[in-house]
Amino acid sequence: MNELQTKIAKIGVVPVIKLNNPTRDAVPLADALCAGGVPVAEVTFRAAGAADAIRLMAQSHPEMLVGAGTVLTTAQVDEAMAAGATFIVTPGLDIEIVKYCQEKGITIFPGCTTPTDYHAAYKLGLEVLKFFPAEQSGGLDKIKAMSAPFPMFKVMPTGGIGLKNLATYAACPVICACGGSYMVTADLIDNGKWDEITELCKKSIEIVKEARK
Ligand code: 3PG
Repeated sequence: MNELQTKIAKIGVVPVIKLNNPTRDAVPLADALCAGGVPVAEVTFRAAGAADAIRLMAQSHPEMLVGAGTVLTTAQVDEAMAAGATFIVTPGLDIEIVKYCQEKGITIFPGCTTPTDYHAAYKLGLEVLKFFPAEQSGGLDKIKAMSAPFPMFKVMPTGGIGLKNLATYAACPVICACGGSYMVTADLIDNGKWDEITELCKKSIEIVKEARK
């Protein structure tokens, strides 16, 4: 794992964020995450203004690791990098985008769930993969089965992870960090429930710490 991946692994959870109103919500959300001990965010390009959200978070919280998620094109990689993103997440494994990120020197976590994906990721020299959608693709059992032929990878599972199953995932040595939207739902963000977000982050960090003991 590189330095950024090691930092993400130390934090243990990565909020997957969709911001409908970046101007209003990006900074208070970053405050809430950092206050909860989670200075990392995957800001998805599922909403217009994702680049603005990345810029606002990165500028207001230089200590935070702000990445771009749901990146589907190399143009979005450029947009994310220009806004200050320090990592890229894609839902699937797109060789063109992986190579583009490698050329640009930005860490990429491509979504992989099959032996074919992992094999391609191996040939691309990757070390940490997003395992997406985790629960729907076989969950921890599949992650463990995949690590038999591919023990060189760590994974960041997302999709269906919440407080109920976080401990089970976090306890597995193949896991770098767990991603999810459960601590940054539309309800929490749109209603400005910043304290609740902070509490969910704190709770998540506790669960991960306990699970890794
Ligand atoms: C992602 O893109 O990582 C997922 O949409 C997050 O999945 P979740 O909403 O089930 O946490």
